[in-house]
Amino acid sequence: QPTDRTTGNLPKAELHLHIEGTLEPDLAFTLAARNGVRLPYADTEELRRAYLFEDLQSFLDLYYGLMAVLHTEQDFEDLADAYLARAAAQGVRHAEIFFDPQAHTARGIPIATVVEGLSRALERSEERHGISTRLIMCFLRDQSAESALATLEAARPHLHRITAVGLDSAEVGHPPAKFREVYEAAAALGLRRVAHAGEEGPPAYITEALDVLGVERIDHGLTCMQDPGLVDRLVRERIPLTLCPLSNVRLRAVDVLEDHPLPQMMAAGLLCTVNSDDPAYFGGYVGDTYHAVHEALGLDEEQLRALARNSFTAAFLDDDEERRRR
Ligand code: HPA
Ligand code: ZN
Repeated sequence: QPTDRTTGNLPKAELHLHIEGTLEPDLAFTLAARNGVRLPYADTEELRRAYLFEDLQSFLDLYYGLMAVLHTEQDFEDLADAYLARAAAQGVRHAEIFFDPQAHTARGIPIATVVEGLSRALERSEERHGISTRLIMCFLRDQSAESALATLEAARPHLHRITAVGLDSAEVGHPPAKFREVYEAAAALGLRRVAHAGEEGPPAYITEALDVLGVERIDHGLTCMQDPGLVDRLVRERIPLTLCPLSNVRLRAVDVLEDHPLPQMMAAGLLCTVNSDDPAYFGGYVGDTYHAVHEALGLDEEQLRALARNSFTAAFLDDDEERRRR
């Protein structure tokens, strides 16, 4: 029986983490009070009881709604610092953090407030928490391609703080190719590329993200298992998948954790990583996730170590940094 030290606390990188999805009920109410925002929940207990999701969309409705409490640079700094403290306690040494600028600019919060606030926490992360960081700016795929292009334009003064672009929000009906132009523009600006694909959407969306958007990693990629030819390709090209097993259970992509295909995906030779996605909403941070897949799927210590190794291999770290972090 591996101890908690060898499962939950293994040194690891987290590569699929939405900073807005780390907003815990306590902090949400603290920020609501600080900013004079009225939440449609009496208290943290009532808010927690709302965390019963049927699918991705039912989660997204609550997730975007709760962001109403985030207003100032200080709010974004506090949010990121709280995540980094929790992540450090669970063995995270490197974090590549998604944020959703359109979810804030649509509420009248300038992108500068978001990026500068997050950056204040990220700049101190190494010294305070022993975690190196990267920032990944996501486009909301249920918004227009023009809105994504405008977001990239608005981010131009902040690109020195941003490593990559990503694609998130409601997947089905919003195939990757819709964002061809903005991904080309991002690549021309020197940004790296990832995208959510194959969370609820078909395997064809994974292929499209690779071929049309030129992504280096696939976020989720769960539905690749429906297409053996695609699995072969992902193995051959060593495309990392940032899986989020607890998210898949809460958003009902799989019925129960015991049914998650992670063991079969690893056995097929896929470059799998496990991550927390939106830990405040899905019942655990990344160390908890390692522990849960050990318990529910019987992954042994060697397999957990392989997942942790994969997380550094798949990270946007140069070789020297990678060696120091592991
Ligand atoms: N999928 C798509 N969009 C998201 C997610 C997710 O799991 N979490 C936050 N935004
Ligand atoms: Zn996600």
